[in-house]
Amino acid sequence: MPDNKTAMKLAHLTGAKGIWAVCLLALLLVGCDKGPSSGGAGGGGGDVIKVGEYASLTGKEATFGISSHEGTLLAVEELNAAGGVLGKQIKLMTEDTQSKPGEPATVVNKLISRDGAVAILGEVASSRSLEAAPICQQNKIPMISPSSTNPKVTETGDYIFRVCFIDPFQGTVMANFASHTLKAKKVAIFTDAKSDYSKGLAKFFKDKFTANGGTISSELDYNGGDKDFKAQLTTIRASSPDAVFVPGYYTDVALICIQAKQLGLDVPLLGGDGWESEKLTEIGKEAVEGNYFSTHYHPDVGSDMSKKFLASYQKRFNGKLPDALAANGYDSMMLLADAIKRAGGTDATKLRDAIAATKDLTLVTGSITINAKRDADKSAVILQIKDGGYKFLQSIQP
Ligand code: PHE
Repeated sequence: MPDNKTAMKLAHLTGAKGIWAVCLLALLLVGCDKGPSSGGAGGGGGDVIKVGEYASLTGKEATFGISSHEGTLLAVEELNAAGGVLGKQIKLMTEDTQSKPGEPATVVNKLISRDGAVAILGEVASSRSLEAAPICQQNKIPMISPSSTNPKVTETGDYIFRVCFIDPFQGTVMANFASHTLKAKKVAIFTDAKSDYSKGLAKFFKDKFTANGGTISSELDYNGGDKDFKAQLTTIRASSPDAVFVPGYYTDVALICIQAKQLGLDVPLLGGDGWESEKLTEIGKEAVEGNYFSTHYHPDVGSDMSKKFLASYQKRFNGKLPDALAANGYDSMMLLADAIKRAGGTDATKLRDAIAATKDLTLVTGSITINAKRDADKSAVILQIKDGGYKFLQSIQP
């Protein structure tokens, strides 16, 4: 970095006229010095471990990214307060995907090339994880998705992992719930054609529900972000289903529940983890009451670690109740920290192998073992919407 003395010397050499040019040059050089390499080569050197996170902090699925980030941040703060990992502090670098396609690739490229992240945490929505996973794979930077459940995410390659269950399991859980608990014989399916998550979960639900002897009364699509679902809901109503499976995200689902009620479609609506948001009940109010969905976690169930997490999360975030995304976000960071310790550092191959070798690691959402497909076999919970909150009904083992 050019110091004042050097600048003065240069000014002396170039004469008074050149002094402004030299000052400008010095400023530019100082600015450059704050560049990506300041933490040491590859982000693992120096005294910090650089972890990149990409999440939908704004936009249509903002509550997903905010909750997931809060859980991740809490884990980082706890790790750092306890002395860091291998004696180094974790530096969490967070980028917003704005809930938009195109952004995940941009921000993850930035996190890797400009910021020197040694590992990437994210995303929640499967379509966005699917967009950034190939970039992590090509750069050989391990990526851990906290909450993406579409099977294709980890099929991208051997650097891509997740800490949650996958949709063939989640679809089975809800199909069995429809067949055995609700005793439904005919179910309609209403899918977001723009979402890999929604299309996958719809298919896995259908496979299991029909294998149980049930029939699909009608199958319709919408595009995430639509505001008017009445045409499709009218067709669904005409097929007289006992229940409707809507594997979508909360903003659309809340409107679908409202419009279904308006049309007199008075059967239970069922969904998956994409329903989970405080916004679902805020927007949907009484129209979402009584409906059911599956997800990863509920604060009422769980281990000592889960109780400890509930208390520290509420303390840190002004009494807010943690949701599944917060719990999975926390677990993704804790799993990464455990793997860095076992790898003895952040060398990419060693870190990848250490994540893959994770076995019986007790975390907030349960005991995590990374299986041969780089997924986690974990239990799911079924919740019912009651009095503006979520009531725990069942826990289902894989
Ligand atoms: N599983 C969803 C997906 O893959 C994301 C999600 C997880 C949403 C958990 C809410 C809660 O797209």
